[in-house]
Amino acid sequence: MKPPIDKNKVVVLTGAGVSAESGIPTFRDADGLWNNYSIQQVATPGAWKANPELVLDFYNERRRQIADCAPNKAHIAIAKLQEKYNTIVITQNIDDLHERAGSNQVIHVHGEITKARSESDIKDVVSIGYKDINLGDCSADGQQLRPHIVWFGETVLNYNLAREHLKTAGKVLVVGTSLSVFPVANLLKKARYGAEKIIVALDIEKRPYGYRFIRGKATEMVSYISCRWLEGMRADE
Ligand code: OAD
Repeated sequence: MKPPIDKNKVVVLTGAGVSAESGIPTFRDADGLWNNYSIQQVATPGAWKANPELVLDFYNERRRQIADCAPNKAHIAIAKLQEKYNTIVITQNIDDLHERAGSNQVIHVHGEITKARSESDIKDVVSIGYKDINLGDCSADGQQLRPHIVWFGETVLNYNLAREHLKTAGKVLVVGTSLSVFPVANLLKKARYGAEKIIVALDIEKRPYGYRFIRGKATEMVSYISCRWLEGMRADE
């Protein structure tokens, strides 16, 4: 039997587009990271083996950039939903802007830039804030530290937890993701027929079934949707 829908529960699934207006580049837009860097050279276990220094440089640069950015109106509007709803944020982003905006239930499925882990023990995770990781920096087990980031070919974090939340959400808001990375894109299918489901992005190749697509900037559209939901209305009423 399916669990009942909880009308007071909102799940917000975010991608790089929610942080774009904070100055953090997305991955696949025209000026996106994957148009300027090779995934094979910086974001795979093979890249780490071949040239760990290059991988550390890439993520050290990301971390420094994120340290200098601030949450935008979309992050803040999402955090504000907590005033009325049990709000779960599931994010593909490695930045900490949801937390800095005040969201207190954030599930990171692709890792966190402010954490490092032992290269040989996925569970040996430490908080490093905005400090660089250098070759020779070791974890408690004496192994080289690596970024706590899910690379291509590695297992997504907290997937089952995220899936269970989607199954019971009364409202689902998807913001700023191209939905091109799996298995996270599959999570959307777990949302229920009776839930209000919206996706906000500048553009999207394929609209997921059952979701209303709102084209526009996250700062504007998410603020509007959040206000409507806080008034107890549907976004399209
Ligand atoms: P993408 O770069 O693939 O997609 C960004 C999406 O955000 C696109 O749909 C844009 O239209 C939208 N967008 C851009 N600016 C926006 C704005 N101001 N307001 C609203 N929408 C905007 O980024 P993701 O889907 O997050 O994984 O990428 C998924 C994963 O691919 C990332 O987590 C990362 C990457 O490889 C890892 O590194 C493991």
